[in-house]
Amino acid sequence: MQIKKVGVLGCGLMGAGIAQVSAQAGFTTVVKEVEQQFLDKGMARIEGILGKDVAKGKLSADDRDAAMSRLRGTTSFADLADCDLIIEAIVENMDAKREVFSALDALCPEHTIFASNTSSLTIVEMAAVTKRPDRFAGLHFFNPVPVMKLVEIVRAITTSDATVATLREFSAAVGKTAIEARDTTGFIVNRLLVPYLLDAVRVLESGVATRDDIDEGMKLGCGHPMGPLALLDFVGIDTTYFIANIMFDEFREPRFAPPPLLRRMMLAGHLGRKSGRGFYEYSA
Ligand SMILES: NC(=O)c1ccc[n+]([C@@H]2O[C@H](COP(=O)([O-])OP(=O)(O)OC[C@H]3O[C@@H](n4cnc5c(N)ncnc54)[C@H](O)[C@@H]3O)[C@@H](O)[C@H]2O)c1
Repeated sequence: MQIKKVGVLGCGLMGAGIAQVSAQAGFTTVVKEVEQQFLDKGMARIEGILGKDVAKGKLSADDRDAAMSRLRGTTSFADLADCDLIIEAIVENMDAKREVFSALDALCPEHTIFASNTSSLTIVEMAAVTKRPDRFAGLHFFNPVPVMKLVEIVRAITTSDATVATLREFSAAVGKTAIEARDTTGFIVNRLLVPYLLDAVRVLESGVATRDDIDEGMKLGCGHPMGPLALLDFVGIDTTYFIANIMFDEFREPRFAPPPLLRRMMLAGHLGRKSGRGFYEYSA
């Protein structure tokens, strides 16, 4: 199936990035938010990133203008009615996701493919509220979307081969390398990454080493571009806490259980970069 028009739900951190790469790749793109103020913020972020790329000479002003002309923001579901592909990137909450997919299912034509950018929730649980479980999959982008080259295509037990093939084509068109995973919490990357991040917190918590030495160890000893505690600040302490709990619920293995320090940091509002303080402090 050929994708011409793409709808994106949510214009937060991930939705804005997905809408940007989609418009830059030549797709007519509509991004929906719940409120105008969130939409304005997300659209301003996209313009800011494209503006910086132009200033750095990575993008021509004409290409920026062409991408922006293909991108439109809305707060109305009706504007997504004629999309060929809809990618959901709203809050990581099953009830909220089921609600939007149920509303869209009644609105969109039969051929429209639905995809969720969820990091940890079960795809088939969302697909089940629609009449198109075969045209439903996970499409998991990485943060920051315009920079990170990977996308995980998540195949629910109901997803058809044709849907996976279309999503592979779309992923390539937006400049990403696709890998495929079955609909199991954490897919490939978070299944491996989250226990590692939680172990780094346990190493700090148990006094084995300092924050700086843990991060330095993994950077210089393993060649990672960023230490695990700096990465936790980047991803968000709250986001990691929620994902860990969902993975623990699914697998019931202690290695997925969030360590006490992570929960306390979340309760204290030390959420990482977004709140100005996590394992590190960040100036405004
Ligand atoms: N942050 C990451 O590193 C990351 C990476 C991969 C995947 N994800 C997943 O992407 C999704 C979004 O995460 P995020 O970090 O962009 O969150 P975010 O909080 O930055 O953005 C979510 C946006 O969705 C909007 N929203 C909420 N309900 C909506 C609705 N009904 N319709 C339209 N918009 C709605 C909110 O106003 C908000 O702006 C989550 O499922 C998350 O698990 C996040």
